[in-house]
Amino acid sequence: SDLGIIAVGFSGGQGKAGVDTAPTALIEAGLLTQLSDDLGYTLHGDVSPTASTVYTANLPAHDPPVRGMKNPRAVSSVTRRIAEQAYAHAREGRLVLTLGGDHSIAIGTVAGSAKAVRERFGGGKDMAVIWVDAHADINTPETSGSGNVHGMPVSFLSGLAKGEGEVFGWLGEEERISLRKLVYIGLRDVDVGEKRILRENGVKAFSMFDIDRYGIGRVMEMALAHIGNDTPIHLSFDVDALDPMWAPSTGTPVRGGLTLREGDFICEYVHQTGSLVAVDLVEVNPSLAADNDLAAHETVRAGCSLIRDSLTYERRVVERVHKYH
Ligand code: ARG
Ligand code: MN
Ligand code: MN
Ligand code: MN
Repeated sequence: SDLGIIAVGFSGGQGKAGVDTAPTALIEAGLLTQLSDDLGYTLHGDVSPTASTVYTANLPAHDPPVRGMKNPRAVSSVTRRIAEQAYAHAREGRLVLTLGGDHSIAIGTVAGSAKAVRERFGGGKDMAVIWVDAHADINTPETSGSGNVHGMPVSFLSGLAKGEGEVFGWLGEEERISLRKLVYIGLRDVDVGEKRILRENGVKAFSMFDIDRYGIGRVMEMALAHIGNDTPIHLSFDVDALDPMWAPSTGTPVRGGLTLREGDFICEYVHQTGSLVAVDLVEVNPSLAADNDLAAHETVRAGCSLIRDSLTYERRVVERVHKYH
């Protein structure tokens, strides 16, 4: 079947350089061959090393903060282009895989999927989003302490934060998601303002506490029960959901996270619903390998594993154990 790939090495949603090299690192680790040769996908989209220049070209040179947001025009412009691309792939009936980049890019990917889903299934059909992350990324510009837009995508996507003009003015009603169809998994570093937002809106969230308490199997059952059958799902996976033991090379690591196996299970579980329409893998930063190159290598390898498991058609257990582990 058909896979639309968006490779977007963008780092402007946060302050650390290096996350822009992730798509290349994932591809150099053999990801595309695994998807085409091993998993049997037909790949669409430009994934050459220069591909992400399509999204990050001609960004405004002068980009002072707006409502405290850093690089607001750049992030808005990049995510707008991504949204168009994600929408175009989805409209062709392709599953959409986006390689980030920092998590601000999900403003584009989710917007594009949401619009395509509305068109395909009619206005009443809301897409579900499963956001796997140590963080909730639901700050509004006003509640954010950092001004980094990678901590805000969910607030813009849900309409909690409103864009205007050249800063997310492009984000329309048809691109929005419903907070009722959003589920978080892996949370353990949520800001005070974000906690209030989650509480006031009754957002479904499974923290690390819930995973310890119920186990990842039960948590996924409950997550999918909340979303309901027959609802298209966008999976947005921030690699920092994994414990730094498995994914050390990321901009905002938080200890006490998911094992790689739990992360893989989430992806496999979502895949086998048959409802997956798009996957993002974000926040891999190969240049933040604290003490050695192995750290970056391990993080990239974990990223490839998560992506493969979200896209694996059947459980070829024996093959996979031998090939990749
Ligand atoms: N909550 C913090 C902030 O708003 C951290 C967000 C981290 N986000 C991420 N995608 N890694 O800045
Ligand atoms: Mn995160
Ligand atoms: Mn995130
Ligand atoms: Mn695996």
